[in-house]
Amino acid sequence: MPIAAAMKAGLERGSWIRKMFEAGIELKARLGADAVFDFSLGNPDLEPPREFLDALKAAATADEPGTHAYMTNAGYAFARAAMAQKVASEHGVPTSTDDVVMTVGAAGALNVILHTVLNPGDEVVVVRPYFAEYSAYVENHGGVLVVADSAPGFSLDPAAVARVLSPRTAAIIVNSPNNPTGRVYPRADIEALAAVLSAHASRCGRAPYLVVDEPYRDIVYDGVAVPPVLSAYPDSLVASSFSKTLSIPGERLGYIAVNPACADKALLVAGLVASNRVLGFVNAPALMQRAVTASWRAKADVSRYARRRDMLSSVLEGAGIRFARPEGAFYLFCEAPTSATPLKPGETADIAFAMALKDRGVLSVPGVGFGYPGWFRLCYCVPEATIEGSRAAFASTMESFEYCA
Ligand SMILES: Cc1ncc(COP(=O)(O)O)c(C=O)c1O
Repeated sequence: MPIAAAMKAGLERGSWIRKMFEAGIELKARLGADAVFDFSLGNPDLEPPREFLDALKAAATADEPGTHAYMTNAGYAFARAAMAQKVASEHGVPTSTDDVVMTVGAAGALNVILHTVLNPGDEVVVVRPYFAEYSAYVENHGGVLVVADSAPGFSLDPAAVARVLSPRTAAIIVNSPNNPTGRVYPRADIEALAAVLSAHASRCGRAPYLVVDEPYRDIVYDGVAVPPVLSAYPDSLVASSFSKTLSIPGERLGYIAVNPACADKALLVAGLVASNRVLGFVNAPALMQRAVTASWRAKADVSRYARRRDMLSSVLEGAGIRFARPEGAFYLFCEAPTSATPLKPGETADIAFAMALKDRGVLSVPGVGFGYPGWFRLCYCVPEATIEGSRAAFASTMESFEYCA
């Protein structure tokens, strides 16, 4: 047996995002790149801001001794101090350098947190639809994924969360602005969730950690504000990165910030730092810590994403496809229509529609990948020509589909 059974099963299950990405390569080779409209991957197409590129050049030419050496596993103190300042201003709590661990992206941050807090069989609550990788991250560290429903319109439903909490609940991961729905959870929902978690903690003696996964915090539209979370609940942590807001996902820089009011904070931070080491990350990339510390206040040009959102919304409206209007991030979550052709065994409406779109060169991701069959996701961090070019393909696919109600 060359690989572990769990990994083999994972490969066989596959990821819908990966499947669509591979389908795209095959389609581009067959039809030509101009006939393929790829909305499958959340890979920002905007270049990083000038401030970041300048800071990167300056960091790359610095020749102080030790610039490329190992460092403390938590990351450079100057980078952690900058992130503490950032989180303090966003979450309204007095975060300091000692509350921050620099990580390899938000993905690294989430894995470090879960490795630190989970005992075998502990439960981690997520709200569906959820970022597809959460299930793998939870399983990586011996946890069990527990799924709570969202409220209509994809906002948080604290009562639904309350129903799935148990004495085994170690954490809940909340992602806002959300992938795949683009929803930004309002302050009232966050406060209601905090009240549910606090009541659960008083009843069963175990306070679940509230993990806020927010790599899209700065990508919001129409004046929507992302409310603070750490100020609402003490046992909370931020997992974030610069992958989306500085358009540098390949550079792998993220961070964890622990609420200064968290119980046993020093022990938790020591565990996070040790996890960063033993998971093999060792420390976050040195050069990126330098470049981002000097440029983190710069942001992607959100107005360009807003324009893409509006363009894609108009394409979908033109084709008669229903969707939830996003307030943030760069995803559109759409309701899958149905056709007269019966579904194949194991197929859901979102898969059937995604396949029909694929036949016309449009790549989307079925909602099953996000724990939400019946809907599908489109990423609009793509060139405007891709969005405009897809208009005819969406319209012609819809000719053989409709909504029942
Ligand atoms: C909700 C969410 N969390 C975490 C990540 C991982 O981000 P990173 O590339 O910074 O590891 C992503 C990436 O798409 C995401 O959408």
